[in-house]
Amino acid sequence: MSEAHWKTPELIGHRVLVPGGTGAVGEGVVRAFLAAGAEVIVPTRSEERANEFRALLGRIADEHLHLIVHDYTTFAGAQDLVDQIVRFRGGLDSVVAPIGGWWQGRTLAEITEDDWHAAFTGLATTHMAVLRAALPRLNDQGAYTIIVGDSATWPVPGSGLVSMEQAALLMMQRVAAAEAGESRRVFSLVLGPVSTRLAEGAVDAGDVGKVAVAITASTAPSASIGLHGPDEVDSALARLATETATAIGAPS
Ligand SMILES: NC(=O)c1ccc[n+]([C@@H]2O[C@H](COP(=O)([O-])OP(=O)(O)OC[C@H]3O[C@@H](n4cnc5c(N)ncnc54)[C@H](OP(=O)(O)O)[C@@H]3O)[C@@H](O)[C@H]2O)c1
Repeated sequence: MSEAHWKTPELIGHRVLVPGGTGAVGEGVVRAFLAAGAEVIVPTRSEERANEFRALLGRIADEHLHLIVHDYTTFAGAQDLVDQIVRFRGGLDSVVAPIGGWWQGRTLAEITEDDWHAAFTGLATTHMAVLRAALPRLNDQGAYTIIVGDSATWPVPGSGLVSMEQAALLMMQRVAAAEAGESRRVFSLVLGPVSTRLAEGAVDAGDVGKVAVAITASTAPSASIGLHGPDEVDSALARLATETATAIGAPS
């Protein structure tokens, strides 16, 4: 990515919830929000994963990173998490949700019921649980951003459950945006392969994080944004920077 359109926006004090933040893409999101000065709340289902993630981040895991061991995969669990955030932090401003990972190995005719729950209903339920608990509590300027992969729009033989689940999430974003009208901003980031701590890809996880920060800092309306390479990252950042500058009355 060129740096032409990137000046880290200031999100000091902005409370962002990042479920899935301990994951490969989530790490880039967490780093970008910490760099912007936000209060970054990362729920994780295990103490061990919390400790691993804190060690991975090293010195940037300061007092602005709030790792909470909490089950957010059920309606009740996600509701309790959001209630606690609102009670103890005084509110919630934004959410970025890079929940879930890859699954492969069986055709649709071969999948087991366990596969179905692990790769489809379990992840879809987690996304739904977080969205229904958090979206009504966001402040007016905040944004809700769902992160999915290209498999949402492209059938991948042997990974069909991923394609089906991600396609459902894309529609969830569209429905939530339509229902929210102008009262809330709801986005999806649709990614090609991502460069992370685990694998090489076409877009860097840190750049995914920068776009998520830029969305949050902007006044851009709800949208689905594709990020498949540095050109798309640059154009997304350029567009979002314009919408931020317009909002604060900066000269064009
Ligand atoms: N990696 C890529 O190259 C790539 C490319 C395109 C799109 N994406 C999309 O980006 C999102 C995140 O992918 P990722 O590669 O970062 O995944 P990941 O490394 O496996 O991390 C996913 C995170 O989701 C959380 N999670 C909550 N419920 C889960 C469940 N039932 N099963 C698995 N994880 C669960 C986990 O956090 P805790 O265990 O801490 O709770 C985990 O850290 C996904 O929507 C994926 O489709 C990734």
